[in-house]
Amino acid sequence: MATAKADLDWKNLGFGWRKTDANIRFTFGDGKWDEGVLVSDDVIPLHIGATCLHYGQECFEGLKAYETKSGDVVVFRIEENARRLIRSCERIMMEPVPEEMFIHAVFRVVDANRRFVPPYGTGGTLYIRPLLLGTTGAMALRPSVDYLFVVFVTPVGPYFKTGFTPVDLIVEDDLDRAAPRGVGHVKVGGNYAAGMKASTRAKAKGYADALYLDPRAKRFIDEAGPANFFAITRDRQYVTPDSESILPSITNNSLITLAEDMGLRPVRRPVDVEEIFEFAEAGCCGTAAVITPVKSITYRDRVVVYCQDGRPGPVCTDLYQRLTAIQCGDAPDPYGWVRRVPECG
Ligand SMILES: Cc1ncc(COP(=O)(O)O)c(C=O)c1O
Repeated sequence: MATAKADLDWKNLGFGWRKTDANIRFTFGDGKWDEGVLVSDDVIPLHIGATCLHYGQECFEGLKAYETKSGDVVVFRIEENARRLIRSCERIMMEPVPEEMFIHAVFRVVDANRRFVPPYGTGGTLYIRPLLLGTTGAMALRPSVDYLFVVFVTPVGPYFKTGFTPVDLIVEDDLDRAAPRGVGHVKVGGNYAAGMKASTRAKAKGYADALYLDPRAKRFIDEAGPANFFAITRDRQYVTPDSESILPSITNNSLITLAEDMGLRPVRRPVDVEEIFEFAEAGCCGTAAVITPVKSITYRDRVVVYCQDGRPGPVCTDLYQRLTAIQCGDAPDPYGWVRRVPECG
C-alpha cells in the first residue's frame, strides 16, 4: 500500500537535517550487540568521558534511498557501505558492526520513514547516516568496550545547491586534510574537522569547495571536500587519483565500471596537479555530490576553465544519466547494485 507522504516542499529540500519519524539504535556491551530499537527522540545520552568525544572514536557512513517509478524504495550498493564501516572500525580500533546487522538496521529505519522518501521524479533522496560511537566513559587513552550504533535519515536535495551544474574549485595546498598513512582512507569524523578550515575558506572566496593535494609530496590531487575527483582526458580516459589518503568512493568505483561500458579507459593513478591544465572535463563524485561537474579549478595564480559555456561536458552528462538511471530504477541494473527495501513489519 502506498504511504501518504510528509508535507514537504520536495523540489526544494536543500541538503540539511530535518526531523523524521524514527532512528534506530543498537548498543554493544558485555561483548555483544543488542537487537536494536526504533526511537523518535533525536538526542542520545552520552557519558562525558566517552571515547568518541575525547579521542575521536567515531566513524560513520552515508548512503541514499530512492523511490522508483513503481513506488518501491531502493538503496544503492549498501553492502559496500557496510564493508567500509568495518574497515573504518578496524583502523581506529572500534567494535565492527556486522554486515548483515548494518543492512537490516538501514532497512528498518528506512521502512519506518517511508513517508520521508522524496517522491520519484522530484530529484530528492532519503539520505541515510549510520553512525558508530565509542561510549565507554574513561580518561585513559584506550579503545572503548561499549558502543552505540545509530542510523538516522533525512530527506535531501542536491549537496552542492546548484545540483548538476558545474562548480568552481580551488586548490588549498597550505592545509592538509589527512596525513600519509593516517586515517584519510576511512570515514572517521576527524578527517572532516581537519578539512573544515580549507573548505570554509574556499567557500568564503566564492568556490564550491577546496581541492586537496596529497599530504606527502603536495603535488598530486587527492580529493575535493566530501567527494572524489575524476577527470576525462582528451583521448577518453577516465582518470581518478590513486592515493593512500583519500576515501575509496563507492560512487567513483561505480563510475569506473560505467566509464568502461561507455568505451572510456578507466585509469586509477597519481594525478599530478599540473595535469589539470590538460583535461577535457573534470568532476567530483560521491553519494552526496552524485556527479558534480567542475567548471574551473584555481591553482595558485592560474585558473583552468572546463565548461566555457557553463554547461556540463558530454562525458560527465552521460555518466550522470547512466548512474542516476540505475539508482532510481529507470535503467536495468546489470551489476546488481540496487536492493529493494523490504517491509520490516
Ligand atoms: C572524503 C570523502 N570522499 C569521497 C566520498 C564519496 O564516497 P561515496 O561515493 O562512497 O559516497 C565521501 C562521501 O562519503 C567523502 O566523505
